[in-house]
Amino acid sequence: MSDTLRFLGRLIARPVYTGAVAPSGPGLSRAMAAQVPPNADGPILELGPGTGVVTAAMLARGIAADRITAVEYDRDFAAMVATRYPDVHVINGDAFDLEKTLGDGPKTGFAAILSSMPLVNFPMALRQKLLADILERLRPGAPFIQFSYRLRAPVPPPAGVTVTQAAFILLNVPPARVWVYRRR
Ligand SMILES: C[S@@+](CC[C@H](N)C(=O)[O-])C[C@H]1O[C@@H](n2cnc3c(N)ncnc32)[C@H](O)[C@@H]1O
Repeated sequence: MSDTLRFLGRLIARPVYTGAVAPSGPGLSRAMAAQVPPNADGPILELGPGTGVVTAAMLARGIAADRITAVEYDRDFAAMVATRYPDVHVINGDAFDLEKTLGDGPKTGFAAILSSMPLVNFPMALRQKLLADILERLRPGAPFIQFSYRLRAPVPPPAGVTVTQAAFILLNVPPARVWVYRRR
């Protein structure tokens, strides 16, 4: 079965969590991976890898698989990413509860955190809590990279945090924007 069909199946089964009609296209996946600082070492956290297209773009960019921890809520997607990229540390769990989900692995000091989660499908209070949690787990100045189909960033930045539009990918279906949050 193709990844697009698998994705559609998950969308029907779990629309709020899946949040897209198809996996992100190569342009969007590359634009997400491009925001990972090229020279920073240390662990990288990916939230909502789905079929693994952003994971693959990071690997294609030369990021070592064993630096990446990927947290995926859907059991089938998590198993798929783990099979495709055996050196990536894949956790089948909930990104809204990172303290529990990350278990004994790295929990702070991430060089970058990327999310493809459909944040706009969740209540604003939950988004704000997740953003605060993510920012706490990043190194100072390190990026939180999130894409969205909307015109505006999916969470307004709290005091002391900036958000910038890093890319607009018109040729994605649907067109998408890549947002980068950083603590000042
Ligand atoms: C829009 S899809 C993106 C998938 C893929 N990264 C891409 O770009 O095509 C959103 C993904 O986030 C996952 N997801 C949603 N809520 C989640 C949560 N609370 N914790 C972990 N993963 C979550 C979904 O299961 C789905 O795989």
